[in-house]
Amino acid sequence: MSYLRAIHPKRSGGELAGVQVCCPGKVNLFLSAGSPTSDGYHPLTTVFQAVNVHETVIASVRDHQTSVTMSLESPNPSVPTDESNLAVRAALLFKKRYGITQGVHLHVDKKIPAAGGMAGGSADAAATLRACDALFNSEASLEDLESLARELGADVPFLLTGGVALAEGRGDLITPLTTDMELTWVLAFQREGLSTPAVFREFDRLHDGREELTPAAMPEPLIKALREGDIDLLADSLCNDLEQAAINLHPDMAETLRLARSSGALAAMVSGSGPTVAALVTGPEQARSVQTLLETLPQVAGTMIVHGPVAGAHVEN
Ligand code: C5P
Repeated sequence: MSYLRAIHPKRSGGELAGVQVCCPGKVNLFLSAGSPTSDGYHPLTTVFQAVNVHETVIASVRDHQTSVTMSLESPNPSVPTDESNLAVRAALLFKKRYGITQGVHLHVDKKIPAAGGMAGGSADAAATLRACDALFNSEASLEDLESLARELGADVPFLLTGGVALAEGRGDLITPLTTDMELTWVLAFQREGLSTPAVFREFDRLHDGREELTPAAMPEPLIKALREGDIDLLADSLCNDLEQAAINLHPDMAETLRLARSSGALAAMVSGSGPTVAALVTGPEQARSVQTLLETLPQVAGTMIVHGPVAGAHVEN
């Protein structure tokens, strides 16, 4: 199938306009990992929930250039703005796939902590794909964008749609789950981030010498809890196979988890590959008391009360 066709950037009043896209981060309600396959990736059974901490990407056309450039608002000065940034790679991939010659500038406002286990970089990439689609009127289908997303990273396809979804394969094969249940979380961001590959390597080290691991099958109790709005069953069904590996690499997190679990929260877990800790609470009142407690810990850089599910990457202007 050829993706090449006449594509013209979105204009407003004759001016080349910027497209603003907002994309949420995620927590994993369930994450079961198997032994790595020959490509180094781990087969997963995971359930993602998109939560309302958002990245914003503004994409605009640079008519007299061909490259992709990026500017960044971020509390973390180590986030790169060159081709090692996933958002820049997303724009380059989109340009290549759709035969776009003009340059693109991306302005990214980061609110999701980098290297926090909440897919901040993947959210930038998902937002960039949506923004480029709108900017160049490419009318890509969701399947087209998902196939680009899959080339960029395992978490990127989910963030295009958001909500709650079961994900298999590398975490990139998405089956949306319907639920009326709204969850409130207190997130505790740690001062130091964690590298996802390093956490998976530690997971492998912990299982070295044991038999071949396969990821768990469908997490039926969790799916039932989501369907029936059963918060106690949901709290009991949260699971993250990467938790111990993340704690080994970031021992301070154990104390954050302990305090979150003794704070009255329904449950607490590591988000994805960590080190963000997510405490599930009954509502805003309990959220504030858990937040106050977690903020007393020196290793906690900040906290945030969020809710999910929320929509994935969407155009705002
Ligand atoms: O797909 P993404 O680039 O986000 O993954 C980052 C790294 O995390 C991969 O290079 C791989 O080391 C590890 N990973 C994995 N198995 C997965 C997802 C990610 O081993 N299912």
